[in-house]
Amino acid sequence: MESIESSSGISRRELLKATGTVAAASALAGVVIPQHVYAGETNTIQVALVGAGGRGTGAAENALSTKLGPVKLTAMADVFPDKLKGSFDSLKGKFKEMVDVPEERKFIGFDAYKQAMDSLKKGDVVILTTPPAFRWVQFKYAIERGLNVFMEKPVTVDGPSTRKMLALYEESLKKNLKVGVGLMCRHCEARGELFNRIKDGELGELNLLRAYRVSGPTGSAFVNKKQGDISELMYQIRNFHGFLWASGGGFSDFLIHNIDECCWMKDAWPVEAKGYGGRHYRGEYVDQNFDSYTVEYTFADGAKMILEGRGMINCQNEFASYCHGSKGSAVISQSGHAPSGARIFKGQKMTEDQVVWRCKTPEPNPYQLEWDHIMHAIRQDTPYNEVKRGAEASLVTSMGRMACHTGRAVTFDEMLNCEHEFAPMVDQLTLDGPAPVLANAEGKYPIPAPGIKTTREY
Ligand SMILES: NC(=O)c1ccc[n+]([C@@H]2O[C@H](COP(=O)([O-])OP(=O)(O)OC[C@H]3O[C@@H](n4cnc5c(N)ncnc54)[C@H](O)[C@@H]3O)[C@@H](O)[C@H]2O)c1
Repeated sequence: MESIESSSGISRRELLKATGTVAAASALAGVVIPQHVYAGETNTIQVALVGAGGRGTGAAENALSTKLGPVKLTAMADVFPDKLKGSFDSLKGKFKEMVDVPEERKFIGFDAYKQAMDSLKKGDVVILTTPPAFRWVQFKYAIERGLNVFMEKPVTVDGPSTRKMLALYEESLKKNLKVGVGLMCRHCEARGELFNRIKDGELGELNLLRAYRVSGPTGSAFVNKKQGDISELMYQIRNFHGFLWASGGGFSDFLIHNIDECCWMKDAWPVEAKGYGGRHYRGEYVDQNFDSYTVEYTFADGAKMILEGRGMINCQNEFASYCHGSKGSAVISQSGHAPSGARIFKGQKMTEDQVVWRCKTPEPNPYQLEWDHIMHAIRQDTPYNEVKRGAEASLVTSMGRMACHTGRAVTFDEMLNCEHEFAPMVDQLTLDGPAPVLANAEGKYPIPAPGIKTTREY
């Protein structure tokens, strides 16, 4: 690979030097890869989509848009027929014959993931974009089947599911499976260059990181009382951001990216978190989320990371991450995930006249880059496994959430060893079976009570 040149004429070695290992392979998107290297029976990589919602459809689009060799979507699985149909229609409309999913390879139900994976051959790819609660269950089966995997973040929601995921990571390594985790900002070239510049000492010692995701209600984090004849379990799955067992709540699902990109720049995970939050304007909403969160994370060297999350209307909105060092400061991301707008300032004042470095524009789409990278690794058979990092990012996120929900400082090790498993039977759910959490007589679900419930979140 070292000798292969990208379409821009830059060698991979030069790219690695310029952009760091994580980002480098992206520039290979335009490279013509020898077609014999993919070890499958044929040259075509088949893809199955499990969880055909918004992100799953987007991930399938990214998979089908890679240019490293033939790819086909051949199976789809979901628990809701309408979701599967919407996703199929959209993908078929855009990708025509690259979407080869006849009725007999469209699967519905809690076992649908198995049927979809059974239709693939070893070395193909399964996309896991269901709510995070199902991640370890479906990853376990993918490993058994010898499949490469792309799974969305968060990959765990609590201590026990993180321990399971870390054990599965070891299994997937033994089988040399390529596994991507949808923390796509890690594949952003601009952030990659910022990371290298921080490593080269341009900011001095990093002692403060700040992350904000404050906006109006997001996703399904604000859940109205169940209505109609949908089952309790299916209602919770449909509104998975509202239920801690399904997603880790709005905290985990929305804040993980900013937490992860800050930890990347610091090149460490925090060792402890303390946090605050509350339910201020909940009205008739019945979900388990707070509507505001503030966390102070501490790293082993004493450096801090401040995180703010809020879902309230008519308040200031911000979706950004920053870092501060002894010699300067930087924007990690300024407005959502992409473009990052990464730049370095010579002091702590983040004004245009203080900018000393700014990333190149336009920035390539990180959602596409993460797929270029995993497909490249599959076709070249190079090591590629993001599960450990994804599980640790998910754990650090849970640690901040638990600190807010319990009103106690929580360490990394305490979170990892925490015994409260939100949905121990998640691998045995059935369409008409019971849900992992139940509402009271008023139709409301158990909520965190800092200082009162201190060893469990609800
Ligand atoms: N990386 C990102 O920027 C990003 C963006 C959006 C979502 N996500 C992640 O993607 C995942 C899905 O989010 P979404 O916004 O697409 O939600 P969604 O509700 O649109 O999609 C989830 C799909 O999974 C299906 N599903 C639920 N349980 C299932 C099961 N047991 N088996 C099969 N299918 C099942 C649902 O019916 C739904 O169609 C989440 O983990 C979320 O955090 C990541």
